[in-house]
Amino acid sequence: MSAAKNLREKSAAAARISWENILTSLEEGVVVTDLQGRISFFNQSAEMLTELPASYALGQPYNSVFAKSAWVVDMVRMSEPPGQTGSRGEGDLARPRGRHVAVNLTVSPLQDRYDQFLGSIILLRDLTHRKELEEDLKRADRLSLLGTLAAGLAHEIKNPLAGIKGAAQLLTRKVKDDAGLREYAEIVVNEVNRVDVLIDQLLDLSRPSKIDFQPLNIHEILDQVLLLEQADAAGAGVEIRKIFDPSLPSIRGDRARLVQVFLNVVKNAFQAMNGQGALTVTTRIETDFHIREHGRERGKFIRVDIEDNGPGIREEDLPNIFSPFFSTKTNGTGLGLAICYRIINEHGGLIRVESRAGAGACFKVSLLVA
Ligand SMILES: Nc1ncnc2c1ncn2[C@@H]1O[C@H](COP(=O)(O)OP(=O)(O)O)[C@@H](O)[C@H]1O
Ligand SMILES: [Mg+2]
Repeated sequence: MSAAKNLREKSAAAARISWENILTSLEEGVVVTDLQGRISFFNQSAEMLTELPASYALGQPYNSVFAKSAWVVDMVRMSEPPGQTGSRGEGDLARPRGRHVAVNLTVSPLQDRYDQFLGSIILLRDLTHRKELEEDLKRADRLSLLGTLAAGLAHEIKNPLAGIKGAAQLLTRKVKDDAGLREYAEIVVNEVNRVDVLIDQLLDLSRPSKIDFQPLNIHEILDQVLLLEQADAAGAGVEIRKIFDPSLPSIRGDRARLVQVFLNVVKNAFQAMNGQGALTVTTRIETDFHIREHGRERGKFIRVDIEDNGPGIREEDLPNIFSPFFSTKTNGTGLGLAICYRIINEHGGLIRVESRAGAGACFKVSLLVA
């Protein structure tokens, strides 16, 4: 085949793909404005990012569509005459329903071959998941440093503690006829038990755990956890709603470790609701495809959402709740969620939280399908 013919065929193939299709399918949000500053193109990703339908945005002046994100309007203005300069930036994009989204913005003047200005091209890239990933890495660093420290300390404390506990138990028996002394001895035993739990949690957080992956039925695990917790005093007055998807496939996981995760999350919810309220546990196939972009394991995920209607988590606490030792409770160790985080991470999954003060908390756990 001649080189010329080859080239002709290639350009014919290229011509069959329209520019509009390419722009529509891009993962970046693409917005094009015309000479009058009206929006003349608005692709699907732009619709998703802005939460505005193209049918609304098309024909509207860009400065009214982006009115609540002044920095975007400023950047587009710079791309217009007389300056016609392109620029890049990062910031929050306001959305109609009030939530913001972090985006990377590239604005370029759209010119014909004689440098005549025709409008502007605005490219929008979602930064949410990059931010999550950065947070994840920072947390992993903190965790491993703390873990090493904690493991050393915990080992050192474990042995003398066993001695104290044994002695205190003996003492309790010896003084059983003296109510006053017995009370003191019991305090020692109880407090030692508390330290013991703390040390076990610390070790849990730090030891490289052996994980035994099996295909598991997630509903069985959740049922077991809810049954256990409901028997507990804190859970007695809580209404539990289960919205389980019966068609869910098996997941890949370590049974004991996952029970531990859901126990921690459910316990927290019960504590937050102070024994009164409703807990909704929902399972479904994960449809948020972003999880695969995370560069972790590829595959299908299921999602478990555990939502309470307690007081929720204050915005300033949200970045900390998965960190070891962060607790807002007088008797909390702050290790529960750090352990959950670590276990879910080891499962190649994801645990996140959504919460607004006063509106309850929702923990979202994604796990790999077996
Ligand atoms: N369901 C929830 N509602 C409100 N706050 C929560 C919830 N779950 C966790 N938290 C917050 O996260 C913190 C850390 O939780 P955790 O790691 O389990 O430690 P602890 O329970 O020992 O405080 C809690 O002290 C609390 O402030
Ligand atoms: Mg806890």
